[in-house]
Amino acid sequence: MGSSVKTSVRPVEIAQRRARFRSRRSSQFTESVIREMTRLAIEHNAVNLAQGFPDFGAPEEIKRAAQDAIAADFNQYAITWGAKPFRDAIAAKYRKWYGMDYDPEREITVCCGATEGMIAALLAVTNPGDEVIIFEPYYENYGPDALLCDAERKLVKLSPPDWTFDPDELRRAFSSKTKAIILNSPNNPTGKVFTRAELEVIANLCQEFDTLAITDEIYEHIIYDGASHVPIATLPGMRDRTVLVNSMSKTYSVTGWRVGFVLAAPDLTDSIRKVHDFLTVGAAAPLQQAGVVALNLPDTYYEKIGTEYQKRRDLLLNRLDGSGFRCFRPNGAYYIMTDISGFGFSDDVSFVRHLIENIGVAAVPGSSFFSDSNAGATLIRFCFCKKYETLEKAGDRLRRI
Ligand SMILES: Cc1ncc(COP(=O)(O)O)c(C=O)c1O
Repeated sequence: MGSSVKTSVRPVEIAQRRARFRSRRSSQFTESVIREMTRLAIEHNAVNLAQGFPDFGAPEEIKRAAQDAIAADFNQYAITWGAKPFRDAIAAKYRKWYGMDYDPEREITVCCGATEGMIAALLAVTNPGDEVIIFEPYYENYGPDALLCDAERKLVKLSPPDWTFDPDELRRAFSSKTKAIILNSPNNPTGKVFTRAELEVIANLCQEFDTLAITDEIYEHIIYDGASHVPIATLPGMRDRTVLVNSMSKTYSVTGWRVGFVLAAPDLTDSIRKVHDFLTVGAAAPLQQAGVVALNLPDTYYEKIGTEYQKRRDLLLNRLDGSGFRCFRPNGAYYIMTDISGFGFSDDVSFVRHLIENIGVAAVPGSSFFSDSNAGATLIRFCFCKKYETLEKAGDRLRRI
């Protein structure tokens, strides 16, 4: 009684045990580079232009709605696929913005962010050995998502400066094994907004090869220079062939709330809801109540986020340009991809380390968006979802490179 527990296991045995308990799935990928950059930024007191989360407040109305919901005791599990008022608000938003009709009872699943929405969708529709097409560079989660499903990635290149794809290369990536293509528009990390013509090419191939489009549309309202966001589900033949993933994170500046949603035809939603239920049970109940208020914000809210982010984009573009970066001007999302070949560093990781440790600004090495790290060795990504003064401070520091 009361004696401390001592271990008699020798280091070699610990190493063996570690190998035994490391699954094949988890050994196929590393931890997130983006989130690692945030930790390094904190350690070195660097301005964090790495991970895409705002350093300014969320809208007052929705913060108040979340507080009210907790006070009103929305504190127990919501229905696993989402609180009814929130699903109704999602259906109303899609009707209003895109003229799309989704049945809140059978076609909408609320989940823990787009992150859970994407992995739940992939787990629900793929079998081991299926192929999933991903445009590269890609948001880093899609790699581990596919690996966790034992699905094979087929990568199709987006080429700078416009990040266009070669339709022939895309066609060659499709086969009878292709179960889905992941489409993220507006795109992280490139800032590309896929045009209707490009979406038509993708939609035609999806239909020819009996493939699903799983879309990540979390930057739908963050678009610039008159670009417009077209959900591929609105194209002929695509409504029931698309799994549309979205989230509150970016549109309402609440990345920490972890509330997202998936829209899909009833047969797909059936499988997605089952996976979702056993992964997480459900998203935070009071925050879904606040989500109703968020989704009902007036049109002026959405206009304002577009114009505000455009100003932040222009400020950072200007500062990066002035410091010698070659910038790829984004049409959407809140990131700027830059070419660093002019600085003479051996690769993107050593350049970012230099930025964090000696200059005091954090960014993300381009290699984290490619399956072959050499492919991103001359690129790094900055985010601009920050206060103007944060961007100015980063800009001042970057002059010292
Ligand atoms: C393209 C993309 N998808 C998904 C996410 C994560 O979304 P959520 O916070 O809703 O899980 C991010 C976050 O940066 C992202 O850039």
